[in-house]
Amino acid sequence: MKENLSHSPASAPSHRTKPLSRNFWLQVLIISAVFCLWVYEVVFGANSRFVLQKKEKFQKCSIDEYRATGFEFLKTAERPPWEEYVLRRNNLAQALVIDGVDAFVPQWEGWEPEERPFLMVIRPSTLPNGSIAANTSFLVPHFEEERARLLKMPFQEPISTITYEEHWNYYTTLWETSIWGEKLSPVLMVDEEMRDFISRGLASNGFTIVGLSGEVEAVRQVKTERELGIMRAVNTGTVEAIRAMRKCLYPGVTENEVAEVLDYTLKSAGLDPFFDIVEFGESAALPHGGYDGTRKLEPDDFILIDVGAHLYGYSSDVARTFYPPFLQNPPPPEYNVTEKLEVWQLVLDAQAASVKAMVLNATAASVDLAARGIIEGAGYGKQFTHRLGHSIGIKAHESPYLNKGNFATLLRPGMVFTSEPGVYVLNEFGVRHEDVLVVREEGEAENISGGFARSPWAP
Ligand SMILES: *[C@@H]1O[C@H](CO)[C@@H](O)[C@H](O)[C@H]1NC(C)=O
Ligand SMILES: *[C@@H]1O[C@H](CO)[C@@H](O)[C@H](O)[C@H]1NC(C)=O
Ligand SMILES: *[C@@H]1O[C@H](CO)[C@@H](O)[C@H](O)[C@H]1NC(C)=O
Ligand SMILES: *[C@@H]1O[C@H](CO)[C@@H](O)[C@H](O)[C@H]1NC(C)=O
Ligand SMILES: *[C@@H]1O[C@H](CO)[C@@H](O)[C@H](O)[C@H]1NC(C)=O
Repeated sequence: MKENLSHSPASAPSHRTKPLSRNFWLQVLIISAVFCLWVYEVVFGANSRFVLQKKEKFQKCSIDEYRATGFEFLKTAERPPWEEYVLRRNNLAQALVIDGVDAFVPQWEGWEPEERPFLMVIRPSTLPNGSIAANTSFLVPHFEEERARLLKMPFQEPISTITYEEHWNYYTTLWETSIWGEKLSPVLMVDEEMRDFISRGLASNGFTIVGLSGEVEAVRQVKTERELGIMRAVNTGTVEAIRAMRKCLYPGVTENEVAEVLDYTLKSAGLDPFFDIVEFGESAALPHGGYDGTRKLEPDDFILIDVGAHLYGYSSDVARTFYPPFLQNPPPPEYNVTEKLEVWQLVLDAQAASVKAMVLNATAASVDLAARGIIEGAGYGKQFTHRLGHSIGIKAHESPYLNKGNFATLLRPGMVFTSEPGVYVLNEFGVRHEDVLVVREEGEAENISGGFARSPWAP
């Protein structure tokens, strides 16, 4: 009891002060936490908002600069009308006759690729006046026939279909149709991307399958004037986007940020980017990249950009190497840019030599060798590690290929090639200039990518 009594007065005040002091420390804790959060917000929050603002400004600047061109380059392109597809199918039909092939079956998908074949079969047929035109049929599952008609494919007449039920052997269905006349084993040419099970299915059910080659392959290689108009628009537009974006670069921007802004810039003109390599300084010593894109831009970094976009189904593929606008020309002496400037010019000279060599009836190899000779002559032969270029059209990389072994391919008027020589000095820098050219009847090839680079400050 005494103990209780003595304890209770002692414990009573302590019972009152204890929660008070706990409250006090709780308040101190809350106030410090709020203070810390405030400091964090001021220091880092503002900074991240600043970074965000910088990138938004960069993007806006780039799109504004691009719009300032008036998108003039789009004027040479028109969405291909159905006559264009008729022309191209008829050109194909004439090539099939020359190659002695009964039909061409392209790798083509009306909808998502699936296990039920939906095949386009293009045959040559002779018109009453003697000219050769394409006659196209579709092998399609019966239940999809109406859906196939609704695809609005570029045909003047309703499409002609050969239908199969799902429990049938559909390759036999195709083989048994009357379109083959008396031929026992019709010869079908398929392109490189034809799905393997379809090639094998056709081959083991009465058809003779051959790969893409000869005149048929050449038909795709030689572009029509309409195709060239689209390719000029998309390639020029892609170079112009790089030029516009360059004006807005700032120190510290990352490779990934530049790629993202360039993509949005291209989209603002209705171009649809499908690859975008952005490399600063030593990153560019790997021709196709490989680093993680977080490198920050410094004044004396060469910027190598290789980018492609689509317009009406056709591809661009161009590259430029340049200095940021905030490096003065000539650069201050603390930056030793001697070798970089020499290599930049060397690669441009190599490109110019290849354009001069890109003439009717030249071999594909000779064009590569013209550029390679210049680079080897300057002692950088081992640093030019890839072929000079490739053809381009619907796909970014098409045959024929400009490599030093391709003596079999002779250049024809209307063939389109990239010329993209490069020099890569490992752990230091890389330079590549890539433009797109069309082989003409006379003289050297014509650029269709907005003109060549002029200097590291005027790409
Ligand atoms: C043959 O007829 C087709 C269609 O009737 C026509 O488009 C084509 O121009 C004609 N060809 C020639 C060489 O007259
Ligand atoms: C296409 O071929 C089929 C079958 O051989 C034939 O009936 C049809 O008249 C041809 N169409 C044209 C436009 O030549
Ligand atoms: C600059 O670098 C080159 C080699 O790239 C070298 O030959 C030259 O002496 C250097 N110049 C100066 C001023 O350091
Ligand atoms: C190019 O080659 C073709 C066939 O190989 C020939 O008919 C043509 O005359 C040649 N043209 C020139 C300009 O050499
Ligand atoms: C590129 O080709 C155009 C013609 O399409 C020509 O006017 C221009 O001078 C060429 N540019 C260069 C740098 O050769």
